[in-house]
Amino acid sequence: MRIDVLTIFPEMFTCFLSTSIIKRAIEAGVLTVHLVDIRDYSQDKHRRVDDYPFGGGPGMIMRPEPIFLAVEALLEEGESRPPIILLTPQGEVFNQEMAKELATYPRLILICGHYEGVDERVRQFLATREISIGDYVLTGGELPAMVIIDAVARLLPGVLGDPQGAWEDSFTMGLLEYPQYTRPRDFRGLKVPEVLLSGNHEEIRRWRRREALRRTWQRRPDLLRKAQLTPEDEALLEEIIREGKPG
Ligand code: ADE
Repeated sequence: MRIDVLTIFPEMFTCFLSTSIIKRAIEAGVLTVHLVDIRDYSQDKHRRVDDYPFGGGPGMIMRPEPIFLAVEALLEEGESRPPIILLTPQGEVFNQEMAKELATYPRLILICGHYEGVDERVRQFLATREISIGDYVLTGGELPAMVIIDAVARLLPGVLGDPQGAWEDSFTMGLLEYPQYTRPRDFRGLKVPEVLLSGNHEEIRRWRRREALRRTWQRRPDLLRKAQLTPEDEALLEEIIREGKPG
């Protein structure tokens, strides 16, 4: 997959792209991230990309022409039209479903907004989609772009060691993750649940399912209402509810 990122701060991506799993995905050729400095498309001799808002008011607005020119130059490089995504708190709120959908495209273009906002014509006539990473306001779209790249990259074939893992993790399956433990079995008197040491795969599976349901019921009952539960899940859930909240 190729992801083109339009930004006025390409240096913000350096560490992110050269660390851990993202670095490996790039080295393996599964992911290409192409950073485009929007200032390179400014027609201003000072490389300015912002200007005052018409009608007055606080802050500066990103001008449309450098963004249009940068995207148009990118589109000349390929035949098909990739999604052109503007990162903005006004967008559709990002979630795992969207990550899965975005992971199916061969190419994405991400536009990182800044200042008080982006000229409305970018939103209306250039972007094909607007995404927010949550109901809070950041100083720019760079962190949201990294969040999206990270969530999408781990879904690409060959990026994680376990090819099923990413697609079957808790959010993907609609529940929160069950508790996980590693060595030592006894840490300062805090013991790993006996069932996980039993070697009984069926009991372990049932315990994990029960704990995933318990955690989701306790923390995110909204997810439980949307999850597709089997008759076994319904029975486990009844037990959990009978036992009460702590766990
Ligand atoms: N730009 C500023 N805040 C943002 C957010 N929450 N999501 C996406 N882009 C943003």
